[in-house]
Amino acid sequence: MSQLELLYKGKAKSVYLSENPDELVVIFRDDITAFDGGKKDVLSGKGSYNAAVSSFFFSYLEKNGIKTHFIKMIDENIMLVRRLEMIPLEVIARNRAAGSIVKKFPFEEGQILDPPVIVTDYKDDEHHDPSLNDDIILALGLLTQEEITYVKETTLKINRLLYDYFDELGLVFVDFKIEFGRLGDEILLGDEISMDSMRLWDKETGESLDKDVYRFEKGDVMSAYARVVEKMMFKK
Ligand code: C5P
Repeated sequence: MSQLELLYKGKAKSVYLSENPDELVVIFRDDITAFDGGKKDVLSGKGSYNAAVSSFFFSYLEKNGIKTHFIKMIDENIMLVRRLEMIPLEVIARNRAAGSIVKKFPFEEGQILDPPVIVTDYKDDEHHDPSLNDDIILALGLLTQEEITYVKETTLKINRLLYDYFDELGLVFVDFKIEFGRLGDEILLGDEISMDSMRLWDKETGESLDKDVYRFEKGDVMSAYARVVEKMMFKK
């Protein structure tokens, strides 16, 4: 990929221009970070796990009527995607209270949130990703009112599909973060869907099988990711 021009290097993915101006090449690297990059490591094979899980879910969602940027895998950690104009929002859906919502509000860890809670954070390192309400999203010109409704409804649909999928694997789909982008007049799901950007708990034992294993040193994060991938392969 060295001949391709690097467009953007994130904490765990690098995005390159491709020969086609409408398409980008995303490389899922083996880097893992937490706490705004305050903790970081390189774990061999982690990029491939996240790419495999993301590509599976993008295809799964497409089959279920959700438009995504996914085109195809080029290699085990390299994905070809449609070029979107990304919207700087982190859309988080929560089925159980965990992480920052427990720190900010009087929820019990693990408390069921029904209906699921959707939170939108502004993707802006300088301001430490503050939470936005609809009025601020409108005032910043990030989305129209119609688009806010579309993004929330689409997030709830994705949440339902993934919740049911993981439920069958014996996993609780606690929460997840997704990002959207524009392609012409349409809004598509972009970025990734992987264990880096979700919380998953074993239904029986309550063990974390996601990036919290790395964040809070709960064990070997690669073994946790491998367990999720194995369960998914066994189901397919
Ligand atoms: O930290 P918090 O509890 O707000 O995270 C909610 C969910 O969103 C978690 O699954 C977390 O991994 C994910 N997230 C993310 N990227 C961020 C912030 C949160 O993937 N920048």
